[in-house]
Amino acid sequence: MAETHAFEGRWSLITGGASGIGLACAQALAQEGSALVLLDVDAAGLAAARSRLSSLGVAVETREVDVSDAAALEGIAADLDARGVRVEHMVLAAGVLQPMHGIDTLDLAVHDRVWRINYHGSYHCCRLWGERMRVVGRGAIVTVSSVTAQRATPLLAYGPAKAALENLTASLSVAYAPHGVRINAVAPGFTLTQALQDKIDAGLRDADAILSQVPMGRFATPQEIAASVRFLLSDQAAAVTGTTLVVDCGWLAGSGWQTYQPMPRR
Ligand SMILES: NC(=O)c1ccc[n+]([C@@H]2O[C@H](COP(=O)([O-])OP(=O)(O)OC[C@H]3O[C@@H](n4cnc5c(N)ncnc54)[C@H](O)[C@@H]3O)[C@@H](O)[C@H]2O)c1
Repeated sequence: MAETHAFEGRWSLITGGASGIGLACAQALAQEGSALVLLDVDAAGLAAARSRLSSLGVAVETREVDVSDAAALEGIAADLDARGVRVEHMVLAAGVLQPMHGIDTLDLAVHDRVWRINYHGSYHCCRLWGERMRVVGRGAIVTVSSVTAQRATPLLAYGPAKAALENLTASLSVAYAPHGVRINAVAPGFTLTQALQDKIDAGLRDADAILSQVPMGRFATPQEIAASVRFLLSDQAAAVTGTTLVVDCGWLAGSGWQTYQPMPRR
């Protein structure tokens, strides 16, 4: 069933919408007619996103906010209510990575910040806009997790925070299900955003080492993650809730293979 302009006239709220995966999601939804509310800490990025996305002919609201600030989010929710903006779709993509340290050397302030943004920020947004969707009886949410939620990695704050986010997603799906609201997660693998490119350029990630572990031998693109998000938000996924869709060019599936033999290559 082809859906043209499936999101026409509806509002989608996207955290982390100023760049990378969040921005790609905003673009995919705007191309199908969705009006947008973008939340991000990056004021310049928000301004650039607004001018780029407005040119697609949709309304774009931006708010500079730290998603870990529950009171600030409450203010935004009240303001949107007062202006008649009813959020029907939500993508929770705001997130930060962390430096790699052992548990003995990882700065607790860094650990807690990763949790506040990657986990609590999404919790706060569900508390506000998920609840509004539940009351209205309609809505769909996608949280942005990571394959690191599902495997042991040296990311001792980031991976556990994403695992908690997947669990929250499944738990809320049960609470929301009788009320016409769906919530799912996407778990991207290595996705070539500017953020990842910057880490590669700074020598903090080794592109060849990463790709040697990826069965498809390439990075995912932000647009490919956005296509899965768009699917999960759409009526094509009307029976899908509480699940995590892995979009990783095969990384998770391949993670045990090399214990036995080298990854197959063309
Ligand atoms: N790129 C990857 O390989 C990859 C893999 C798995 C998961 N992810 C997840 O995808 C999501 C998007 O990451 P990305 O790669 O597009 O990175 P990105 O840095 O391009 O995007 C993250 C956005 O979140 C915003 N942000 C950061 N802290 C914030 C805060 N406190 N409040 C509001 N906004 C804030 C940033 O300004 C930025 O615009 C993140 O949740 C990340 O954990 C990315």
